[in-house]
Amino acid sequence: MCGIVGIVSDKPVSTRLMEGLRRLEYRGYDSAGIAVVNGRGIVRRRAPGKVLNLQNLLDGAPIDGNCGIAHTRWATHGRPNEQNAHPHQAGNVAIVHNGIIENFKSLRQEMANKGRVFATETDTEVIAHLIQDNMDEGLSGEDAFLAAVERLEGAYAVAALVGEANQTLYAARHGSPLVVGFGKGEMFVGSDAFALAPFTKRVLYLEEGDSAVVEIDSVRVRDEEGASVNREILTASISTVMAEKGNYRHFMEKEIHEQPEALARTMAAYIDPETDLPALGETAPLLKNADRLIAIACGTAFYAASVGKYWFEALAGVHVETDIASEFRYRTPALPQNGAALFISQSGETADTLAAMRYCNRAKVDTIGVLNTPESSIARETKTNLRTMAGPEIGVASTKAFTAQLAVLAMTAIGTASLRGRLSEAETQEHIRALQALPELVQKALATKAQCQAIAPILAKAKQTIFLGRGGYYPLALEGALKLKEITYLAAEGYAAGELKHGPIALIEEGTPVVVIAPNDPLIEKTVSNVEEVAARGAKVIAITDEAGAESFDTRAEHTIILPNLPGLTGPIVSAIPLQLLAYYTALELGTNLDQPRNLAKSVTVE
Ligand code: G6P
Repeated sequence: MCGIVGIVSDKPVSTRLMEGLRRLEYRGYDSAGIAVVNGRGIVRRRAPGKVLNLQNLLDGAPIDGNCGIAHTRWATHGRPNEQNAHPHQAGNVAIVHNGIIENFKSLRQEMANKGRVFATETDTEVIAHLIQDNMDEGLSGEDAFLAAVERLEGAYAVAALVGEANQTLYAARHGSPLVVGFGKGEMFVGSDAFALAPFTKRVLYLEEGDSAVVEIDSVRVRDEEGASVNREILTASISTVMAEKGNYRHFMEKEIHEQPEALARTMAAYIDPETDLPALGETAPLLKNADRLIAIACGTAFYAASVGKYWFEALAGVHVETDIASEFRYRTPALPQNGAALFISQSGETADTLAAMRYCNRAKVDTIGVLNTPESSIARETKTNLRTMAGPEIGVASTKAFTAQLAVLAMTAIGTASLRGRLSEAETQEHIRALQALPELVQKALATKAQCQAIAPILAKAKQTIFLGRGGYYPLALEGALKLKEITYLAAEGYAAGELKHGPIALIEEGTPVVVIAPNDPLIEKTVSNVEEVAARGAKVIAITDEAGAESFDTRAEHTIILPNLPGLTGPIVSAIPLQLLAYYTALELGTNLDQPRNLAKSVTVE
């Protein structure tokens, strides 16, 4: 959600603020804005839509100064227009904000009663008024900022300019991430280290309730109680080079193609090269002794968790309950006595997943993160972490992070089965060796590209597309439908193949595309029967199967996408590739904005 960047420097900052915004645009792209302090006080420019619109505005009407803040918005309160674009200003205060201020209505009323006039429909503007009001009451800029932040309820990360000539950035976090970066003769704040990567890799992560006063060569951090604290300065692991599109048209296309490498990296981290056995480190004892597991996530990560459930139960015999974080956190769940909870998240910042994790921490359930961002809030607060090594994922629709999550969950399920004596050493090694073939299998799956591109016009023209799967391929059907919806805006639904006759089959009419994911496994013939049922009702069947399964589809499918044979647990991981390609080429056919689809954001830090 919303991206924040701020710079205080011995030289002008607006070009670099814009560079930071471009890197943050994946967090939201409803509007963008910038404010700097210069000889004329605080000046700002804002534009609806993409960062490019703001750049065009600045090209025609430049502003600059040595201290500034900038923002790219994912709208929550107020339409995404110029008026509601951040930074918001009240007198000599400008503010950018990520999150939601839950008590903004009462604060706004209080400020309005004092005669303050509001120019926007946002929850954010009230923060600027509170700070200015505190200054009018005689507080210093710093005290005015701190006193205002103390009154905010909800989730927020804020950065502010306070005072008409003050070369200082004020920042605070509560629920939404914020980092401080250290440069030479300049300092930064940002929503994540990735935004600051072109400028510095030396960063400090503000913790919950922290506030910071950032000057050109120093930062002072206070904790929730207002006590001065030292937070560790770390070297961010993100490479700026990895976040370039290279020769690809879109980040999504690039990230789809990075999967063989991402999977190889991820597996190398969890396989003991001497023995070919899983190495789960400090997570092993938590899994070995758990009587029950819960797996919580949102979006695509939830579908990864859902595949994991099949693996853990089948191999390790552990009961796994899966839940979407926004439901789990509010439904007073019955937690395991002696269990562990897995939190799966690319960003490690998703507000609902973070809240669900904290719920488990408070209840003293062992928490395990499966995360792509090692510096994230969830990574820092879970008891142990299993990292996915997908590298930065910029495309809003998750691809390589999903398959890396699946690889970690597969490895963990095998490791747990082995720790519990449900798999012999030889069986464990056989499973692991099957997973080691993933980079090659995925490479071969990428060769279905031309065929997926040829099928794309069918999906692009259809009123809706149905995705079907059974067992571990059922969550893949849900993910295939989600991918298509996210980037093409077309109607798509995923169903368990066996559930079709209980209602969804009514959707099938002449020509409805039905994508069925069914590589060879003990359930394939059951799925094929369901395919017969939809084909008999006029559906256009597109089968995704493997060499061994292709015969079962024979003439029943209009198109058969044939993957190499998929041993062990590799099936759902490799099957994700044609689903991603089908969505990608359909979106390309329709000309939608693939990397930044409408209404979505990469990292959802509001509930
Ligand atoms: C957003 C993204 C999805 C992602 C979900 C969970 O909705 O658009 O692609 O799956 O958040 O994100 P996380 O970072 O927790 O995996």
